[in-house]
Amino acid sequence: PQARVDLVGDRVTAVLPTGESVEILLTGATVLSWKGAVGGGAAEERLWLSESAVLDGSKAVRGGIPIVFPVFGQSPADVATSKLPQHGLARTSRWEFLGRSTSEADVSSKATSNGVQLDFGLTSSSADPKLRELWPFDFALLYRVTLEPGSLITSIVVTNNETEKAFDFQVLLHTYFRVSDIAQVQVDGLAGAPYSDKVDGMKIKTQAEGKVDITGETDRVYKPEGGAAQALTIVEAGRPKYGIARDNLSDAVVWNPWSDKTKSIGDFAPKDGYKNMLCVEPGSVSGWQRLDPGDAFEGAQSIKLL
Ligand code: BG6
Repeated sequence: PQARVDLVGDRVTAVLPTGESVEILLTGATVLSWKGAVGGGAAEERLWLSESAVLDGSKAVRGGIPIVFPVFGQSPADVATSKLPQHGLARTSRWEFLGRSTSEADVSSKATSNGVQLDFGLTSSSADPKLRELWPFDFALLYRVTLEPGSLITSIVVTNNETEKAFDFQVLLHTYFRVSDIAQVQVDGLAGAPYSDKVDGMKIKTQAEGKVDITGETDRVYKPEGGAAQALTIVEAGRPKYGIARDNLSDAVVWNPWSDKTKSIGDFAPKDGYKNMLCVEPGSVSGWQRLDPGDAFEGAQSIKLL
């Protein structure tokens, strides 16, 4: 049996024969839901999505996996992205569904793999007109969502279609992981890593040995020594839960707004939902990626249920 793929309205859903599924909103090509199974168990929701997330395209989605491009956070004033809103133009633009593609596994095994690959595209001419004029470069984004039993891979290719101009960009996959109780959650793989602490005046600090506990508002841009090769694991109640491998995305943002901050985030519901989420966001955001005309950059995250 094959995976079933449907495009209904502004949502694409894919369901594997195992019952595992993924749902993507064309706004931002935002993955809204990933139901994954592990160890023969039932497919369960693995992403956190706010109950009051705005899904009509008028706002970025609070939850799931929004795509941050070409700037992370508020842009500095002295760079080409300065006029763009926080996190850039991709997460609120309407992407095009390019269809289901054949996976490498399909080709190499000459058989039907157990997974499904969905492609989405956004270009400077299809991006939100109000935003694209704020960053005047000819670009194309290809976003590929691969659902396999027990795993989800999302990869992005950024292409510079200019004939003469290079551009600088940042990119990040803003993954909201669902957890049962943040008090029991730790992130492994960051010991000794330098990070910029956004809740403490961007001070540069060094992560202590051991796993990272989340005990209050957390907003950190980590630069693990091993770069993208450093595996990250979200652990809950002492058990590894999500394994995160990164390709070409050498930074990792760890974000939880905690109780006070959620009060000021209008589309964050329920207000104690911070107990059930943790953002671990693979990206290239501590510096800028320069892309020459005609060149392309590819980055990916591969999440495995453990
Ligand atoms: C994180 C940033 O990636 O995204 C935080 O590090 C930010 O500083 C968070 O608050 C959410 O951003 P937004 O624009 O979706 O509210």
